[in-house]
Amino acid sequence: DKANYRHFMAKEIHEQPEVVGHTLARYVDMATEQVSLPAKLPFDFANIGRVSITACGTASYAGFVAKYWFERFARLPVELDVASEFRYREAPLRKGDLAIFISQSGETADTLAALRYAKAQGLHTISVVNVTTSTIARESETVLPTLAGPEIGVASTKAFTCQLMVLAAVAVAAGRARGELNAEDETKLVHALIEVPRLMSAALALEPQIEKLARDIAKAQDVLYLGRGTSYPLALEGALKLKEISYIHAEGYAAGELKHGPIALIDEKMPVVVIAPYDRVFEKTVSNMQEVAARGGRIVLMTDAQGAREATVQSLETIVLPDMPATVTPLVYAVPVQLLAYHTAVIMGTDVDQPRNLAKSVTVE
Ligand code: M6R
Repeated sequence: DKANYRHFMAKEIHEQPEVVGHTLARYVDMATEQVSLPAKLPFDFANIGRVSITACGTASYAGFVAKYWFERFARLPVELDVASEFRYREAPLRKGDLAIFISQSGETADTLAALRYAKAQGLHTISVVNVTTSTIARESETVLPTLAGPEIGVASTKAFTCQLMVLAAVAVAAGRARGELNAEDETKLVHALIEVPRLMSAALALEPQIEKLARDIAKAQDVLYLGRGTSYPLALEGALKLKEISYIHAEGYAAGELKHGPIALIDEKMPVVVIAPYDRVFEKTVSNMQEVAARGGRIVLMTDAQGAREATVQSLETIVLPDMPATVTPLVYAVPVQLLAYHTAVIMGTDVDQPRNLAKSVTVE
């Protein structure tokens, strides 16, 4: 049931502080402030040479964020694939390495086929799934559940942020096992994760501003999303969410790629959504924004107070999120990204929960 919401998607967006909090409680020991996975892993991260992460759609963007985390916290190289490519490209895999599969439904055909391929190659397999009775859960060596509860809207929202929470915990566990993080580093990261539900609630409070902004976005034919670092996968997610439910064409790009092509598209008609918390790559993103502004592009900036102060460009709208540690920005910035797509779709009058041509779970290739 939709509670008091107009759509399941709205309900699911608003449930995030709660379900991400539940997921966190399953992966973190609040007393010791250390990560504690709900399943014992049948391998030692210290012996893993490479991780392969495979998923489709939004789940693959969660995997993309996790790549940055595994590489940073655990110095563990990660290869990321969309499942339809992984299963056919005959990637050389090393027996005993780790493959992670991410899926809300646990029934996505390509992801399942990729899991079977990795198993046949002798890899350890972990699935991060929401439906724990699913085929992917049943067939993987270790199951790490997201505790998002049933997700009804075709557009994945709360499953995505719960996937991020699980993957952050696993990346921290890997960092510790490999001696890349000490207890103090770990406690700091865990503190940051504990803050996420509160930060998400603060992000949800920005809804009236985003709803107003959506009126502008709804007039656009194309929208560009830009981000750097872990905000890059989020830019991809923003573009997917918008096109999927509002049918407005959107593209996500790494901000640094702007000059390599997409800048040719910029004019007064195309809004450019820039996801840029004030972090170590912020200055670089500001220069990309200047390039957009110089060509008359209209910028929607999602940032924090310091970012809003330091961004020396005129924006159509600045959405100011609370300050937070860099690690958790993908979880929290997901909220305004989802809300913008949602309200734009509502204005467009589309069937938000069941967009045309799409199925909740894609069980054929
Ligand atoms: O059930 P899964 O997580 O395996 O589904 C993967 C994709 O089909 C899914 O994330 C899709 O991209 C969503 N509709 C995006 O909102």
